[in-house]
Amino acid sequence: MSLRCDQTPQWPQLQAAYSTQGRQLDLRRAFADDAQRFGHFSQQAPHVLADLSKNLWSRETEALLLDMAQASGLAKHRDAMFAGQPINSTEGRAVLHTLLRRPAGLALPGDDSSIPGHLSDVHATLDAMLAYADTVRADSTITDIVNIGIGGSDLGPHMAVLALEQFRAQGKRLHFVSNVDGHELHTVLQSLRPQNTLFLIASKTFTTAETMTNARSALAWFAAQGGQDVGRHFAALTTNVDAARALGITTTFGFWDWVGGRYSLWSAIGLPIAIAIGSAGFRDLLAGAHAMDEHFRTAPLAQNLPVRLGLLDVWYRNFHGFSSRCIAPYHAALGRLPAYLQQLEMESNGKRVALDGTALSYATSPVLWGEPGTNGQHAFFQMLHQGTDVIPLEIVAVREPTHPLPGHHDKLLANALAQAQALMVGKAGEDAHRHFPGNRPSTFLLLESLTPASLGALIALQEHRVFVSGSLWGINSFDQWGVELGKVLAKDLEARLASGDVTGLDGSTAGLLGHLRRSA
Ligand code: F6P
Repeated sequence: MSLRCDQTPQWPQLQAAYSTQGRQLDLRRAFADDAQRFGHFSQQAPHVLADLSKNLWSRETEALLLDMAQASGLAKHRDAMFAGQPINSTEGRAVLHTLLRRPAGLALPGDDSSIPGHLSDVHATLDAMLAYADTVRADSTITDIVNIGIGGSDLGPHMAVLALEQFRAQGKRLHFVSNVDGHELHTVLQSLRPQNTLFLIASKTFTTAETMTNARSALAWFAAQGGQDVGRHFAALTTNVDAARALGITTTFGFWDWVGGRYSLWSAIGLPIAIAIGSAGFRDLLAGAHAMDEHFRTAPLAQNLPVRLGLLDVWYRNFHGFSSRCIAPYHAALGRLPAYLQQLEMESNGKRVALDGTALSYATSPVLWGEPGTNGQHAFFQMLHQGTDVIPLEIVAVREPTHPLPGHHDKLLANALAQAQALMVGKAGEDAHRHFPGNRPSTFLLLESLTPASLGALIALQEHRVFVSGSLWGINSFDQWGVELGKVLAKDLEARLASGDVTGLDGSTAGLLGHLRRSA
């Protein structure tokens, strides 16, 4: 049985440490006093070099946080996840996205007896999906691939396809349609010809209203345009193969209920990525993630990057009281990374009750947001430097560019470095308006180059750091009940928009509905 962070003996010690020295820590002094600070707080993990030294913590604080992790049973909880125990307790499910990137036949200590069967299913499905992806890549008549999915069935594949643009097959255009807003699908359909298009209907449940509405409209458009052979032009990526068949889609790639939606890009949901970068590229993506899994599973806690990041997140949220984290990828191809991480963190850890249902007395998920640097510098970085709130910044940079344009990349990297430096060092101004207080925290994550393997490792790192903070907070990071109520109400209101019936509605909803009714 794990202990919640506030039940460990270290929790009051951390509170005391925060009031006596943590809140006053000055990064400039900390570097001046400790010549080894960068060495201590930076580390190499698979494909990712991390510098955590410009954060508002000391070696002593980190040691206490590590003791808290030890006392809470974090390692046991992590091992339970890898072993396939049903740690998603509110849904009675295992959490096994790590199995999707585990090499065939690799047994781990403590594996559940069902793991070997699951692993052989995983590889049989992966092989079939990758063979299909390569067939699509080789088929010059298919020029457009349209992924229809939302949430985890959109954000991960979309982010990865954009990030790996340099590896994308020539002659294939990939489109992502997620919103139920018909403007999105309509705009994409206008550029398509049915005989040259492959639609991928991506939905774990195959019940999500947005995706089902878009799928039906795509099928209707295909028929209306004289499209022939749904089996060739539509494929479903889902755990609910029966529902896909009921819709008339016979080409299907399955996965399992132990893959959470926001953790599903490694499964059949990754098919658009595999079509974009090929089977070898997709296997590299999995291998990069697996390398990070092994690091998380085996590295001592003090040298375990997801653990250190997750503990820093707890320190910031519960002691410093920071309520948000800004992500700035210094690579244009990582433009969708902030949106992807937003779902990962906020849908996983945006919870207010503990595993036993009791209300928590402390804060959980921060708000995650961001935009690629350097664009953000000319928009919201003003607030990071001089605003009233302290917002930790997380920079993701890539050392090697893949474009040939001289001069750009050094400018980009210099800007990434300069922002982290400016936030920390600050500058005494000749007047209050020109004053930079400094002592503002940042984390620097550096990839050697942006490849399928390094992207896989970066994403797995983020998945595991979310696991670490969620585990310390004692919440279920793998359900998402908070999205259900809106779905139910939207169904009811859709009917009321047609009928005009406002019986029982609150005054505002009834008033707005009156304005929104097109026939009113
Ligand atoms: O509404 C939330 C959610 O369930 C996400 O967790 C999920 O990623 C998304 O909807 C899409 O679900 P599905 O893949 O079942 O269509």
